[in-house]
Amino acid sequence: MNSPALSPRPPWQGRRVVLGVSGGVAAYKAVQVARDLTRLGADVDVIATRAAQHFVGALSFEGVTGRPVLTDMFSAEGAALHVRLGQEADAVAVAPATADLLARAAQGRADDLLTTTLLATRAPVVFCPAMNDRMFAHVQVQRNLAHCRDVLGYRIAGPETGALAAGEGDGPGRMLEPPAIVQHVGRALGASKAFEGTDVLVTSGPTREALDPVRFVGNRSSGRTGHALAEAAWRRGARVTLVSGPVALPPPTGAVVVRVESGLEMLDAVASRIGQADVVLFAAAVADFRPESQSAAKVKREGRSALGLELVANPDVAQETRAARKPGARVVGFALETEALVENAKKKLVAKGFDLVVANRAGEAGVGLEADANRVTLVDGEGSVEALPLMDKEALAEAVLDRVQALLEKR
Ligand code: CTP
Repeated sequence: MNSPALSPRPPWQGRRVVLGVSGGVAAYKAVQVARDLTRLGADVDVIATRAAQHFVGALSFEGVTGRPVLTDMFSAEGAALHVRLGQEADAVAVAPATADLLARAAQGRADDLLTTTLLATRAPVVFCPAMNDRMFAHVQVQRNLAHCRDVLGYRIAGPETGALAAGEGDGPGRMLEPPAIVQHVGRALGASKAFEGTDVLVTSGPTREALDPVRFVGNRSSGRTGHALAEAAWRRGARVTLVSGPVALPPPTGAVVVRVESGLEMLDAVASRIGQADVVLFAAAVADFRPESQSAAKVKREGRSALGLELVANPDVAQETRAARKPGARVVGFALETEALVENAKKKLVAKGFDLVVANRAGEAGVGLEADANRVTLVDGEGSVEALPLMDKEALAEAVLDRVQALLEKR
């Protein structure tokens, strides 16, 4: 599937990324990393070590980046190639970073184009280690890793636990998957002073209000906007907690995910965390009503020609947790309306103590709840009303966070 998320967009668009590839089986995944970064609009220069070339051919990388693969320190491009690449890069990612590459980087060696480029750059560097789990656990590897992280300031992304080249590993060693690596590169490119060190709390998805053990009352929210907001806030440098109702989405990279089912569970999860949050984004479609009572056993069809359903109001999560907010927290709400969009959004802004409301109209085909794209109007506490064009949910998340960033900068 050609995901809508893979079109040129910030923070990748127009940025220079050096992708270092060292020699491990995971090098095949680096081709997808190079492809996805390129689709997101980055200019990707792949530097492959000698060992990497045993695993993946240059043509694979050239095919997806449209740029030559760089391998040789002493090429016709000139001896200063490493300096130019290092200077021009906005971020350097090394995926996979093998045990050997970690050792050479930790020692400050300059014995090939990749290690010399690492010495020449002052851009953020992301290492994605990949090796056998026994090798990864070795004290020497751990020392090299700690040196790269603590002394050199490199960001270490992964590894995770899972299937390894030589069977199943018990411990970490497997390289992160390409979409996560792309997000880590995005965080290296996209960090903003305003978000760094802040705590962001996001609610997302629908809630399910149980009727009996197998049935529930719910709604059509996909959670895509909330998940996109969580990932985008993390890319800007925040610590992110996502409280999510049941959704069919992979967890967003970087966020701590708290899974809940019902509105009452969402209320508990938010109430215990909101006091630490500098920014709160209420993107969840909490069910406004829940069945008055829950049957412990499955409600049987037999003998019934109809089933009455008594619903009671669910708590309003945004409202009920208002007093517990951190003083000065910036709070964004959403409003789904079928009529009087701006007027109702303004009412919700005041009633729920939001600084910004993202208002959208229900019922437009291909837009909103279940769709990839949305058309919204932003309404803020100072009376500004801005209608945004139709955009996908990742772009919407960026637009909302631009506004939040401006609010944070005003502090
Ligand atoms: N919200 C919430 N808890 C609820 C209902 C809503 O936290 N039980 C939050 C939503 O996450 C959203 C905002 O309040 O940020 C407005 O949600 P919306 O469903 O548009 O409004 P309601 O308050 O439910 O009002 P109505 O359904 O009458 O339009």
